Amino acid sequence: MTTPPDVSLSTESAPGALRVDGARLWRSLMDLAQIGATPKGGVRRLALTDLDGHGRDLVVGWLRDAGASIEIDGAGNIFATRDGRDGTAAVVLTGSHIDTQPSGGKFDGNYGVLAGLEVLRTLNDAGVVTEHPVGVAIWTNEEGSRFVPVMGGSGAFAGVYTLEHVRQQRDVDGISFGDALDAIGYTGDTLVGERALDAYFEAHIEQGPILEREDKIIGVVTGALGLRWYDCVWTGQDAHAGPTPMEARRDALRGASQMVEAVHALAMRHAPDGRATVGFMQVSPNSRNVVPGRVKMSVDMRHPDDAHLAGMDRELRDAAAAIARDLGLECDLEQVDHVPASRFDSSCVDAVRAATRALGLPHREMVSGAGHDAIYIARVAPTSMIFVPCKDGISHNEIEDARPEHLEAGANVLLHAILARALRSGVTSGPSGIEHG
Ligand code: GLV
Ligand code: MN
Ligand code: MN
Repeated sequence: MTTPPDVSLSTESAPGALRVDGARLWRSLMDLAQIGATPKGGVRRLALTDLDGHGRDLVVGWLRDAGASIEIDGAGNIFATRDGRDGTAAVVLTGSHIDTQPSGGKFDGNYGVLAGLEVLRTLNDAGVVTEHPVGVAIWTNEEGSRFVPVMGGSGAFAGVYTLEHVRQQRDVDGISFGDALDAIGYTGDTLVGERALDAYFEAHIEQGPILEREDKIIGVVTGALGLRWYDCVWTGQDAHAGPTPMEARRDALRGASQMVEAVHALAMRHAPDGRATVGFMQVSPNSRNVVPGRVKMSVDMRHPDDAHLAGMDRELRDAAAAIARDLGLECDLEQVDHVPASRFDSSCVDAVRAATRALGLPHREMVSGAGHDAIYIARVAPTSMIFVPCKDGISHNEIEDARPEHLEAGANVLLHAILARALRSGVTSGPSGIEHG
């Protein structure tokens, strides 16, 4: 017998009474966090390491148990699909990443993937038949920590990079993305990007302090900052630390040190929206009694306005040239990644806002300061994101934390944003598309 659903909180097309199981979502997060767990309570599961492989195995097993079919593309992106009624309809996709920073947390990326899994489980429990298929993606190497470019898997999917380009990238030990992907057994045979998407929604912790400060539970994300990444190599001359007179030195680490300060000062001139960070440095030969002859460092700069970010780029180049001139060093500053600022699709942003309102959750609109796979997927499909608060706004840190009830609320918004799309057009089994078994 078919029982009419409670549609009291319904958006126009979604069965409003449906809710995810927050405790089950939390258990999945904690179970996945065991793989690569660090003593301080974080996770170290770098892209395409054996641990990434184990994490993928665990989540793919859960997705299969939820009845989804699994496909893997040549970049190692994983797609789990729960069929809809219309075999020709494009998939409503959600997802994120499960690779982490070297000293990462339990929630960055993992939450978006497991919230997607929880949506599938919830649809199964309620016997919901959607018109469109609903899918969960696990994108490869979102973090960009082991391999540049950042968001490499979703970038390849969106046609920003060729598969060859992504596979050729090497980590600091010279291991290529392609070899690492083959070694963990996740080089799939599905063509990269050959997939029609009706829409893409990604749930994520905010990774900043705004929601917590304002006592809001949901961030309705309208777009993201632009980003430029650079490799900066300072070359001077190795020399003995004792006999070499101070004025005769060409110390590459002095160049790098002045550059760290210049990068900080640059961002401060563009506050509050400008951001700039030096997070990586290799000093060579890294010996206490050798004046360093070579330093390689990274620079990460971000701003919500592309023209402004282009101006910051010019200031960065001028600063590097001035320091190199002053210190008699060579400086090779190369931009290695550029993601323009993005705006998400208004109909998807509306779907997130409507679901948030229907659920009665305090919210605000915001622009993401972090990079996300959604930024590249937005180039090929209507896309938006859902943020939930994280403790003290801290992320990319082992102490990253989030409240179970906030994660549950974000997953409920995700569920209803997905349903608003996936139940669309020609639903035939009653008013809601829910079939109770
Ligand atoms: C991804 O985590 C980024 O924003 O750098
Ligand atoms: Mn992330
Ligand atoms: Mn991250």
